[in-house]
Amino acid sequence: MEAFYIKGGKRLVGELEIGSAKNACLPILAGALMCDEDLNIAKCSYFTDIEIMINILESLGCETKKEENNLYINSKNASCHIIKEEYTKKVRSSIFMLGSLLTKFKKALVAYPGGCNIGTRPIDLHLKGLRTLGVKIDEKHGFIDCDGSNMKAGFVHLDFPSVGATENLMMACVKLKGKSVIYNAAKEPEIIDLQNFINSMGGKISGAGTSTITIIGVDHLHSTNYTPISDRIVAGTYLIACAMTGGHIKLKNTIPEHNLAVITKLKQSGCDVDLFENEIEIKSSGKLKSCAIETQPYPGFPTDLQNQMLALQTISKGTGIIVENLFETRFKIYGELTKMGADITIRDRMALIKGVDKLYGATVTASDLRGGAALVIAGLSASGYTTVEDIYHIDRGYKNMENDLNILGAEIKRIEI
Ligand code: UD1
Repeated sequence: MEAFYIKGGKRLVGELEIGSAKNACLPILAGALMCDEDLNIAKCSYFTDIEIMINILESLGCETKKEENNLYINSKNASCHIIKEEYTKKVRSSIFMLGSLLTKFKKALVAYPGGCNIGTRPIDLHLKGLRTLGVKIDEKHGFIDCDGSNMKAGFVHLDFPSVGATENLMMACVKLKGKSVIYNAAKEPEIIDLQNFINSMGGKISGAGTSTITIIGVDHLHSTNYTPISDRIVAGTYLIACAMTGGHIKLKNTIPEHNLAVITKLKQSGCDVDLFENEIEIKSSGKLKSCAIETQPYPGFPTDLQNQMLALQTISKGTGIIVENLFETRFKIYGELTKMGADITIRDRMALIKGVDKLYGATVTASDLRGGAALVIAGLSASGYTTVEDIYHIDRGYKNMENDLNILGAEIKRIEI
């Protein structure tokens, strides 16, 4: 078992380059299955979730070659349409493969992904959308069995702008003859990136980033060399860490527009934030003020930065309030933050946080990816030593987080326990 051992109280200072986004790379890798020619995904960040997605592609018969800055994929000889439970259990996003498996093979057999640590996470919207396009779906023995032999282009209206369902449906429609339209689509930047990736292979998708996405079916997808967008959640996490430690950092290779919701909240908390073309600079005195936050689909405040802001509010003057609208059990870290001296009350989907002067180091346990990251940044600001256990959750979406933070002057190391 690995843990992070943190000596708290160091200000984060310096510059850091942000890598590619996990949530952009995952659907792009799913989409790679749809093309029979050579693909290169440049600057792919090899988070654990990405490594598992590469294993899934290989299990389907795709050829892959990993280099530090390039991931080569050729799916010409892929012949298997089945994704086993051992994969869907490890990386929920493998459910995005339904759309690309249907485009490639006209059929898909994918193990049900089940619940997870932040909520039940149903996939009804994915399945309803596919059924609307004519896919016959049987759910039995823990598998989703899809027959796409009668799939036809059409329109789908989503009851809720689900990110995964939007991406799945975009991929299912790529080669359907005629025009398909997704209404009430999710508007996240990662969806624009998936559109751009598919179009770079000759796909005809427009409207991503708005609530109406149009897909004109094409017969063929061709070779491409594509660089995914940078990770707005990793960038946001480090901005919040800097705010909590009273630091001064500049993040490079990041898209400020993607983080306006968190930047606004950091300004309300008392930080100075300057935006440049591909850079964000933040200065914090360490004297923070409480604020109110409500998570929403993009461009609202992202649920994936909610736990990090919860950590920040624990040391902000006044009483902060956070409402979590996306996932029902996403306040799990409050017990761990309480061990560090935080004063948090949870009522259903709302957290009330009374700011304390400081947090104290403690041994705490990560139970999911972003909650784990929030515990690390709490440890950076706390007095004394913090051990964060079960950091395999954090590795799913932060590549060597300790290296990034040490570059910025933190004292954090990975230890065996
Ligand atoms: C994606 C992100 C995740 C982020 C989330 C919300 C990836 C790999 N993951 O997850 O990091 O936290 O968006 O921004 O990109 N829902 C249903 N039925 C469905 C699908 C979703 O009820 O069929 C509900 C979910 O329970 C949740 C909400 O819709 O309450 C949002 O989920 P969704 O946008 O689908 O999130 P993911 O795509 O799973």
